[in-house]
Amino acid sequence: MTQATETTLYELIGGMPTIERIVHRFYQGVVTDEVLKPMYNPDYLADGSAEKRLTLFLAQYWGGPTIYSEARGHPRLRMRHAPYAITPTARERWLKHFRVGLDEVALAPELDAQFWGYVQHAAEFLVNTDEPA
Ligand code: HEM
Repeated sequence: MTQATETTLYELIGGMPTIERIVHRFYQGVVTDEVLKPMYNPDYLADGSAEKRLTLFLAQYWGGPTIYSEARGHPRLRMRHAPYAITPTARERWLKHFRVGLDEVALAPELDAQFWGYVQHAAEFLVNTDEPA
């Protein structure tokens, strides 16, 4: 099988509509979160652009269209998160809301495990600040 005919996780989970639903649900949690919400530019929460960036990033990551990089360039996630104090608490909260988003779409267990494993790993990698004493 050539790479072009391999089925991507993006396709297996139902493509853009599924990722949009996960991320939409995730952001509904973020705006209720007193640790996370202040980190986000309110304009980008209100106009949906933060939601769009995460959606397009994840779509691209899982083998969907490369719109994210066409618009934003290389993801460089660690660098792009440097302005935010990502403590272990922030990571746990981010993941908690993401888990709700994933639950909403109820993927097949092996697909859920793959998606969830990746975001847990990525969130761990983005921690850049110790817990305040
Ligand atoms: C660990 C906790 C995390 C926190 C507190 C956090 C926080 C933020 C904030 C405040 C932004 C700016 C919102 C915007 O304007 O787009 C952002 C952007 C972004 N985050 Fe996170 N994030 C976390 C984890 C993650 C993870 C795990 C991923 C990927 C799996 C991710 C992917 C992104 C992407 C793709 C953007 C947009 C980057 C850009 O193009 O500018 N983040 N994040």
